[in-house]
Amino acid sequence: MPSRQTNTSATSRSRASSNRAGAAARNEILSMLKDDHKEVKKLFRQFEKLDVHEDAEECEALVKQTCQALEMHATLEEEIFYPAARSCLGEEDVVDEAEVEHMSAKMLIEQLKGMTPDDEKYAATFKVLGEYIKHHVSEEENEMFPQLSHAKLDWQELQEEMNERREALMDEMQSGSKKSGASAKSDSSSASRDMQKNRGSEKDSGKSSDRSASRSSGEDLGEESINDTGLDEG
Ligand SMILES: [Fe+2]
Ligand SMILES: [Fe+2]
Repeated sequence: MPSRQTNTSATSRSRASSNRAGAAARNEILSMLKDDHKEVKKLFRQFEKLDVHEDAEECEALVKQTCQALEMHATLEEEIFYPAARSCLGEEDVVDEAEVEHMSAKMLIEQLKGMTPDDEKYAATFKVLGEYIKHHVSEEENEMFPQLSHAKLDWQELQEEMNERREALMDEMQSGSKKSGASAKSDSSSASRDMQKNRGSEKDSGKSSDRSASRSSGEDLGEESINDTGLDEG
């Protein structure tokens, strides 16, 4: 019969390894979200270099691509990431603010969908959207994400769920674009491709687990900082 000490060290070893796996999953989730942020910021910068009258077609394609990328990212956060953050953050203001900022951004996205580069306020509307997004991303990365560094969450389950939803959203985007013709197809395919490219090795084959199980029962991941995602502002 194993001694009490052997059992204790086996338990602490297994807890340490589950903490490590959880920390890795947490860092990959935050890294994935930050990669999306970088990608859209890059698209806004590309737009700044164009002339809305001379490069109308290019501008329109860029706006469509950016809006699609933002919608996919926002859906993933609103459906999965924010509820998880809300469940474990003592201070929920940061999540409330993020949701309100998403609503404002979506209103501008809807306006842009009904506009063309001929519209007088087309470039201005897109530029304001870019400013909103920059502010929002900075709050997520500098306030919300650091607050999650010691959150008691089942990060591995959260990662699995986010990866599955992301793939489904990409499929929806691609099949939606097939229906709406070749031009839209190339726009949304490129948004989808860009996001896929960012994902790299994160793809995680997933057994379907019980989503209703509380993720917030995960272990405190202790000292492994979220900053080891190695990301910075793009
Ligand atoms: Fe975000
Ligand atoms: Fe967000």
